[in-house]
Amino acid sequence: MRVGHRQTLNTKTPASNEAGVFFVLSFQLSWCLIPALLILNAGRYFMKSKVLVSLLSDGQVHSGEHLARELGVSRTAVWKQVRRALDEGYEIDTVRGRGYRLVTPVDLLDAGTILAGLAEPTRTRIALTVLDEVDSTNTEVVRQISKGAAGVPVAIADSQTKGRGRRGRPWRSPRGENLYLSAGLTFHGGFSVLDGLSLVLGVAVAETLEELGVPGVRLKWPNDIFLPDGKLGGILVELQGELQEGVVRVIAGIGINVHMSHADDVDQPWASLGRVAPQTDWSRNRIASALINALLETAEAFAEKGFGFFRESWQARDMFKGRHLVAQGGDVIGVGCGVDGQGNYLVEGVSGVVPIRAGEISLRVAL
Ligand code: BTN
Repeated sequence: MRVGHRQTLNTKTPASNEAGVFFVLSFQLSWCLIPALLILNAGRYFMKSKVLVSLLSDGQVHSGEHLARELGVSRTAVWKQVRRALDEGYEIDTVRGRGYRLVTPVDLLDAGTILAGLAEPTRTRIALTVLDEVDSTNTEVVRQISKGAAGVPVAIADSQTKGRGRRGRPWRSPRGENLYLSAGLTFHGGFSVLDGLSLVLGVAVAETLEELGVPGVRLKWPNDIFLPDGKLGGILVELQGELQEGVVRVIAGIGINVHMSHADDVDQPWASLGRVAPQTDWSRNRIASALINALLETAEAFAEKGFGFFRESWQARDMFKGRHLVAQGGDVIGVGCGVDGQGNYLVEGVSGVVPIRAGEISLRVAL
């Protein structure tokens, strides 16, 4: 497994090591704990072409000589890096006698830019790791925690080789196209204080996207992010078993489709920010900063006020409200009427209102 060029910016001093067993949390923290994840220790691989691509990112022609000087390598080595970047999917023109030029603009991740976009208290509270490639940013956060990362560990990657979705599904994570971000959030008071957290994270992501100018954001219970065209993003919430009494850690992993323009292997309607608002210059760094700010603020408000404080914000974006639905594998059929105080979804059927705690809810297709 390769893990690429690492930009780690930790504003804290290292704290004690905490190793733990992490569990996948199914749906809205309904305590359906699935056995521990195997955490694989990844080999490290420095992706030199990234530096080359960032030198070319202004769209201008750069001579081989200039690039060799900047990179501290020979011109032959520059040429090899250009070949590697082409293999990785970057479009680079060789301009005869003049040098190299990046044809299509790239939206490179940059730790410094992400940190600069954070609110002051957030910047000093997080330990940020930005990677070219990783198995899963959620797993990376687990690794950071067990290494003793101080502050709130946040991992962002340009691509994931084993991106995970909910219910054991893979999460498509092509290089350079989308945002893959995870944060390790700590709560006090045991697992019971986490009721509804998964939905609240959905509200945080939805509000952030709206603030960035995305119209029509909806939430599909428990926390899928939808636009009218289809799914724009998702959130994977994983739990670490109680570390000390009452201390629980949640790994919140967010995937947002940003530049994705094709996905032949995705079997449901999907959306991306680039498709819904092509005139906007979407920057993954900017979206990442906004999401990190929102995540930390929201986690704090949730710890203080609980799900009740966010319930109306969730209901206002409920994609299922008033729609004919099927839940629990067809056992519950009825009309969607929002969530209760614990974050369960309420379906009103012929025999009354049924709270759905876990599992998939889907629209009922008229026969
Ligand atoms: C879903 O199934 O809707 C949840 C998708 C969550 C994907 C994100 S991408 C960043 C983080 N790392 C992962 O492996 N998964 C989450």
